[in-house]
Formats: sequence, structure tokens, C-alpha cells
Amino acid sequence: MYTSKITGLGYYVPENIVTNDDLSKLMDTNDAWIQERTGIKERRHIKKGDGNSTSVMAVKASTIALERAKLVPNDIDMIVFATLSPDMYFPGGGVEVQEMMGMRTIPALDVRNQCSGFVYAISVADQFVKTGMYKNVLVIGSENHSGGLDFTTRGRNVSVIFGDGAGAVVVSRNETGKGGILSTHLHSEGQHKNELSLKGPSTEHWVPQIIAENPQEDIPYYPVMNGQFVFKHAIVRFSEVIREGLEANNLEVKDIDMLIPHQANLRISQFIQHKLKLTDDQVFNNIQKYGNTTAASIPIALTEAWEEGKIKEGDLVVLAAFGSGFTWGSVIIRW
Ligand code: UT7
Repeated sequence: MYTSKITGLGYYVPENIVTNDDLSKLMDTNDAWIQERTGIKERRHIKKGDGNSTSVMAVKASTIALERAKLVPNDIDMIVFATLSPDMYFPGGGVEVQEMMGMRTIPALDVRNQCSGFVYAISVADQFVKTGMYKNVLVIGSENHSGGLDFTTRGRNVSVIFGDGAGAVVVSRNETGKGGILSTHLHSEGQHKNELSLKGPSTEHWVPQIIAENPQEDIPYYPVMNGQFVFKHAIVRFSEVIREGLEANNLEVKDIDMLIPHQANLRISQFIQHKLKLTDDQVFNNIQKYGNTTAASIPIALTEAWEEGKIKEGDLVVLAAFGSGFTWGSVIIRW
């Protein structure tokens, strides 16, 4: 068995900044409510004509990750792409990245696990590298939320939270013998699938049916969320899966140098920090600037923390996520 390691990381967010005040011009909301309930001050949205899409942002983040890993596109053996907002219904975004980056005919796998997507994707990459099948796997989380949110008052509990962006890492065979991805831990509980979901268009809710069954002004092709229900489950599952990962490696909460939680809501991160008795230095948050970017939030935060010198060789880094499905998971890394 080999071990695997993150050898390069990068992120990209669109230039267009959307403040809470900007949103309050579109719907009945305000800066005080959004900051108090979520911690979010602003987020990025793709602007019509700026050339971005889920896959384009993925390529921008991946290009940086590859450079930092000192690799070229032809060195990549597999793409694992996590997103809930692909450019097309099918095929997935992985093949678009393969084409845009001019890669060989390597496998391109799409992961559909929403906010846990990046953690699931890292776990997949880790297995392929550990077995020796592949040497370098490109793992991406990218989302274009602004393309599909309800920016009227009806959708305000969802649309003020989410933002656009992409993050990517290269998971490589660990040639150093030091550190690496220690373990990954994944879970799901489908009985809560409706609490955070987008029903259609889908094969169960196809376009003509949606239009026929709903009033013209109220066509339900936007995501819905039972916010308080999701919040309550999130704080339990985040803590559980972080502890599960630590215990699997005979580690304790005090050993964590940096926890990168999925940026769901600053209040959720603060709750976990408090519950695990972690200091401000042990938890990284950037939701204030970017909102919740779903599968992209962990790789964006991981990259920023690393760029700011908050993650150093030998550090114990923990990634943890919870989201729609419900799905949740953690990754334990010795950097
Ligand atoms: O990343 C995937 C996982 N997602 C999450 O983890 C999200 C978890 N949930 C949350 O973050 C929170 O539940 C929200 C931020 C979504 C909502 O906060 P809340 O404190 O749970 O508010 P609420 O849904 O209970 O709504 C409270 C009030 C309601 O008004 P009434 O019924 O009390 O009159 C809402 O209609 O706030 C109202 N409201 C808003 N007001 C201003 C809902 N959204 C907004 C808004 N601006 N954007």
C-alpha cells in the first residue's frame, strides 16, 4: 500500500462581489439579518459575460493547483469533480475539465454529494492513489450557485447564503514517506433527502410536468431548505465525524492544528469550535467573504489557510463537511 499526499492546491472566485446590501435591493432582506444568522458579509457571483462557468472556474483553480504541485496536465491520471451545479445536466464537469486542460483520455469522475462533495472526492482519490492504481489525481470542487437561485423574497433563506467559486487539489503518491492523508470517513442518511434539495427539472419532475402542475409565477425549480432542521443535524454530525476521524488515528481534539469545516454558516462553525473547545487559531473560516460555496468551500478555505501560512509541514489538518442528502464526512491529514 502507498500513502497519498496533497501536493498542490488552488482556488478561483469570480471578481464580481455581491454585498448583503446588493441583495436587499432584490428581496426583502437586510445586512443585519444575514450577518447575525450566517456571518456572511459578501459573496461572489459570476457576472453575465465574464466567461466563467462551473467548469471554467474549475480549470482556473486546477491550473494553480497543478503549478504548485509542479505538474503539467499530462501528469494527471484521473479527475474527480464534485459539484451540484454542473454546466450541463449531462455529461458531467469532469470531462469538460479534461477537454479544456488538454489532458490525455484519463478517467473523469463526477461526484454528487453537495456540501460533502469535496470530502467524498478526496476519499475517492485517496483510495486510487493508496492502491497504486494512479499517481496523481486532480480533485475539484466548483459551484455556480448564482445561476440557479431564487433571488425573490420567496427564496431568501437559501439565496443569501450561497456563492460561486472553485477550489482544487492534487492528491499524489506520497514519495516523501512523511505525513499524508491518514484516513477518510464518509456517511449518509437518505431519510432526510427532502430537507435540502432541488426537485427538478429531473426525471421525476420534468419540464412540461413542472410547468403544467404549478402556477406560472410559482414554478418550483429552485432549491429548498428546512434551515433549522439542517442546522441541528449539522452540528451533531460535524462533531461526530471529526471525533470518529481522530479516534481512528489515536488522536485527540487537542492534536488538531487546523480544522477546515465546510463553510455552511459561521454560526455552525462557531458551534463546533465551542463544542470541541478549539481556539480561534485551530479553526479557519472565510464564509464572511465568499458565502457557502458548497463543494468548493473546503478547497477554497484550505488554500487560503495554506497561503496565509496557517498550515505548515507536520500540522494535523482536519477537513469536515455536512450537507444535502444528508451526507457528511471528514478527512484527517498530516501535512
Ligand atoms: O451547506 C449545506 C448545509 N446548509 C446549512 O447548514 C444551513 C443551515 N441552516 C442555517 O444556516 C439557518 O437555518 C438559516 C441561515 C438558513 C436561517 O436562519 P434561522 O435562524 O434558522 O432562520 P429561520 O429560517 O428560522 O427564519 C427566521 C425568520 C423567518 O421569519 P418569521 O417566520 O420569523 O417571520 C424567516 O422568514 O427569518 C426570516 N428570513 C429572513 N429574513 C430576512 C429567512 N430568510 C431571511 C432573509 N432575510 N434572508
